[in-house]
Amino acid sequence: MLAGKHILLIIGGGIAAFKSLDLIRRLRERGAEVTPVITRAGQEFVTPLSASSLSANKVYTELFDLTDEAEMGHIELSRAADLVVVAPATTDLLGKMAGGLANDLASTLLMATDKRVLVAPAMNVRMWEHPACQRNVETLKADGVLFVGPTDGAMACGEFGPGRMSEPLEIVAAVEAALMDGPLKGKHVLVTSGPTHEPIDPVRYIANRSSGAQGTALARALSALGADVTFVTGPADVPPPEGVNVVKVQSAAQMLDAVQSALPADAAVFAAAVADWRVASASSSKIKKDQKGGLPVLEFAENPDILATISQMKKGRPGLVVGFAAETDDVIANAAAKRKRKGCDWIVANDVSPETGIMGGSENAVTLISETGADEWPRMGKDDVARQLATRIADAIGEGA
Ligand code: CTP
Repeated sequence: MLAGKHILLIIGGGIAAFKSLDLIRRLRERGAEVTPVITRAGQEFVTPLSASSLSANKVYTELFDLTDEAEMGHIELSRAADLVVVAPATTDLLGKMAGGLANDLASTLLMATDKRVLVAPAMNVRMWEHPACQRNVETLKADGVLFVGPTDGAMACGEFGPGRMSEPLEIVAAVEAALMDGPLKGKHVLVTSGPTHEPIDPVRYIANRSSGAQGTALARALSALGADVTFVTGPADVPPPEGVNVVKVQSAAQMLDAVQSALPADAAVFAAAVADWRVASASSSKIKKDQKGGLPVLEFAENPDILATISQMKKGRPGLVVGFAAETDDVIANAAAKRKRKGCDWIVANDVSPETGIMGGSENAVTLISETGADEWPRMGKDDVARQLATRIADAIGEGA
């Protein structure tokens, strides 16, 4: 809930501005007071009258409006809020923010505020990916500006890719996270993610197809609920989330070391696709093609089972240990047996048969298995699975659990 919270909402000039009207409604439904500021370009897309009707508040548009200055100066306006939200944040607004420009009301408020700023970018995919825009994003993140989105999808301009503004409810969730101490505040949660690489020689390795998407989404969701997250990741395709403590590893042995060094933890979630075997004695020099004796023969050794090792710790075991089970046959029965065998509290079972499109895809259909039974969740985005699992973890170990 956002009761009593005051949001200064800056609406920039982009087609996504129409979603900001819904955002006003959603924020108010949760008890927030919203003061809209619309840039000149923003007024080409939404009118001050609609923003004013929906917010039941005065809408500000001009820097040099003497009546407004008499009522409330821009410095005061920027500070009366608990949070400043910029949605949609155009590339122009991000550029002004990163460069410290203040030549209209919106940019002046953003320079003058002493409150946190959350931006929801929306723009053409090429503009988003342009090195100048990405430089600005990096600068703003380093300055502590919070980001929600942009997301991938078809855009009004007909192109496809990152650039769409997040949906109003996602922005609301980011506002809540920015304003509140989450239920996992003060809790240390460990997450493993990604594949491992097991060396054959200095240039070759054995790997698997894990992208790290589910583990990354989970670390982000736990952090959004206030957890202090240690994210131990193998070489994943997706970048690690912001705001977590990232420990990069290559092999299963290194992952186990990193996990053990990160303990104690209140909870540990093992989402990594750890290689079950490594090459027993990796060569320290590159194996030559024309070696005596013909083709090389690789001998394997079993890797440590990180989940089982941590689950079975006699002393210092995390209060909640969660594993994942990627199965293709008898998913629930195999996963339930895996939970018992490894000794973890919960196991998140998913069917990774090729026809499900889950491995490497953006969706997941999981069943959460605990001592009390199996809870089947509908198919949903990996981000939604992450948020739901993070909420369950918060219910189990968070404030008031
Ligand atoms: N896991 C681990 N260390 C390993 C292997 C797996 O920590 N050496 C963890 C994974 O992170 C996951 C769980 O164990 O949380 C189950 O992984 P999965 O690959 O489904 O199971 P395996 O133990 O490898 O069993 P199998 O491949 O025979 O199904």
